[in-house]
Amino acid sequence: MAAAATSARLPAQDSAQPAGAQAFAACRSCHTLGAGERNGIGPNLHGLFGRQAGGAPGYNYSAALKASGLRWDEKSLDTFLSAPSKLVPGTRMVMRVDDPARRAALIAYLKAQTAK
Ligand code: HEC
Repeated sequence: MAAAATSARLPAQDSAQPAGAQAFAACRSCHTLGAGERNGIGPNLHGLFGRQAGGAPGYNYSAALKASGLRWDEKSLDTFLSAPSKLVPGTRMVMRVDDPARRAALIAYLKAQTAK
């Protein structure tokens, strides 16, 4: 990826959405966000915040994620997305997001998009 002129600055509140949308491009092949959208390879993420891990209706989760006892919020998502199988050994969610600023933008985007 070419280094953009803006990459030296952390995303401000206002630019969090575009950066988050861009980061979510890596998730789109497996996840939908909107109410009533289908589960894919991964579960539909609508209503994610405040929900128990493994809670999307009609999706066949791993036993590991269902038994994790996690509830999704900014903090648990940040830990999960930095290394899913470290937080939940045995989860089938394998995509990790290494850059903390990218995770923050992604989580802000998820919070907005999964609540609609
Ligand atoms: C290759 C497919 C794939 C990609 C890409 C992927 N995921 Fe997942 N994701 C899964 C699967 C499969 C699960 C279910 C894991 C389980 O049951 O252990 C999951 C579960 C999750 C969960 C837990 C959902 C719940 O209802 O408890 C979150 C949050 C999540 N993914 C976010 C993301 C984000 C954000 C990205 C992009 C950075 C992403 N995923 C990319 C396949 C994927």
